[in-house]
Amino acid sequence: MRHLILLLVSISIQLCSALVSANEVTVNNGFYLDSKARFHPVFAKQGMVVSQEKIASKVGADILAAGGNAVDAAVATGFALAVTLPRAGNIGGGGFMLVHLAEKQKTIAIDYREMAPAAAYKNMFLRIDGEVDHNKARYSTQSAGVPGTVAGLIYAQQKYGRLSLNETIKPTINLARHGFEVSPDLSDSLRSRYDRLRKYPSTKRYYYKANGSFYMPGDRLLQPDLGATLARIGAYGVDGFYKGKTASLIVNQMQKTGGLITLDDLANYRVVEREPVCGEYRAVSLCAMPPPSSGGVHLIQMLNILENWQLSELSHNSAAHLHLMIEAMRQAYADRSLYLGDPDFVPVPSRELISKEYAAKLSALIDSQKARSSATIFPSLNILDTNLPVESPETTHFAVWDSDGNVVSNTYTLNFSYGSGIAVEGAGFLLNNEMDDFVSKPGAANGYGLVGGAANAIEGYKRPLSSMTPTIVFDASGAPILATGSPGGSTIITIVLQMIINMVDYNMGVAEATAAPRIHHQWLPDKVYYETGISSDSLKLLEAMGHIVHENPRVLGATQSISRSGSRLQGASDPRRHGGSVAPQ
Ligand code: DON
Repeated sequence: MRHLILLLVSISIQLCSALVSANEVTVNNGFYLDSKARFHPVFAKQGMVVSQEKIASKVGADILAAGGNAVDAAVATGFALAVTLPRAGNIGGGGFMLVHLAEKQKTIAIDYREMAPAAAYKNMFLRIDGEVDHNKARYSTQSAGVPGTVAGLIYAQQKYGRLSLNETIKPTINLARHGFEVSPDLSDSLRSRYDRLRKYPSTKRYYYKANGSFYMPGDRLLQPDLGATLARIGAYGVDGFYKGKTASLIVNQMQKTGGLITLDDLANYRVVEREPVCGEYRAVSLCAMPPPSSGGVHLIQMLNILENWQLSELSHNSAAHLHLMIEAMRQAYADRSLYLGDPDFVPVPSRELISKEYAAKLSALIDSQKARSSATIFPSLNILDTNLPVESPETTHFAVWDSDGNVVSNTYTLNFSYGSGIAVEGAGFLLNNEMDDFVSKPGAANGYGLVGGAANAIEGYKRPLSSMTPTIVFDASGAPILATGSPGGSTIITIVLQMIINMVDYNMGVAEATAAPRIHHQWLPDKVYYETGISSDSLKLLEAMGHIVHENPRVLGATQSISRSGSRLQGASDPRRHGGSVAPQ
């Protein structure tokens, strides 16, 4: 079983990461120094967009220059990525947007996560022998939840934007209709996923040439069906996707390929604006995504635990520093497995999990010299004297900052690279496979090796638990100083944790914090994952403490961040993946 979980984690890490082709110039274990605009400063009055794809960053920056605010630019970037970064940018998936409104000094969380179709049920991915049918949960039409992206982007635009939807979506309609130049990253990525994506005629037609050959860097990719869908959205708003022609095309796809999403499910999709989950860590405060993402709660929980130790007195990424982070991670992911789910369906004890009192009790259980075994760590809120409710792992991030100090931190996804791999015939976009983020069977690992239980069981209209962690950090006066987030499935939360620790405890700038090598632990499997750059001396010491050190995954995540210092914004697009960029340049 343990081997199976390990295998699943390593397959998922590969599914999530960009493919490195033999002729690319890479430095430092897959660091792409392909763009001059990876790390870039501008004056705050210009505003800034940082995303995984340079055309999309520019679309956002152009919207800022045209008088749009951070939300307008985020919406424009979100739509553009659906065309230029089809492995993760999407209109057939879902995500989370954190918005800091400068004038109101308020941060809000927009939940546009996919919802299970009404006909979904707990055991829908179990085979007759009671085991999980992973193929069905990840690569069938049934793996798709009702997409939330279009509703989420339009909600944000209409409530918090300054421009019209038409103005923000227009550049993207043009990109889809008139095409754009295929980047080396997109060319490689499509080539590497050919075996999976060619299975559905619609997907094959949209992403490969009519003669079956690959798009090469410099070729033009035109997506007329997607352009028509985007134009319907531009003309009719949410109804252009959730009703009418687009909805019919989605339902036709379902009927042809055994999917569950109905016209009613589409019409019933709802965006939820939520209170973000916020906390304090040393001299800063931060807000991040609340459930149905587990990201914010466990990010704050881990920071609270680590606040009980003077990390700055330990050398950065020394064994002593890594050990404490691992022990905090181990506990947080154990808690995640039991307590976290969609708060509209199950009571989630967020307040208790992020309390300083719980963190103090948990940190007292950590021995600074010795690793614990995950077999001895359990979800532990019972150590608090509190009445708990009885009920009981390709994504992309972007950050936007405008000249008024409004900030957007947005992570959205199709789940795996290219989601389910199934494109809606006639509508030109890929369906997510987010249903695999539910627990199909207690204790059975999902695509990221994550285990869970009843709180995250499948139910009609429920949202699958996520790890996406769009985050905004504030200084002591409450002014935003960092917007960050990452792809990486289950590793997202620990990646954002390390960004914050690098900057707060180790005083790194955002570029240095981004480039620093990362580790990851998620309770089960009981392994420390690490990137090249973590010293072998530290690793040997960790092993001597009792940690099980796993062979190196290539890279962990791909953060897209903006930090502010005085009147200067500094953008940092993670060099771990190809193609990201800061705009304007
Ligand atoms: O919501 C989640 O936690 C996952 N569906 C995210 C997937 C992901 O980050 C894939 N990326 N590399």
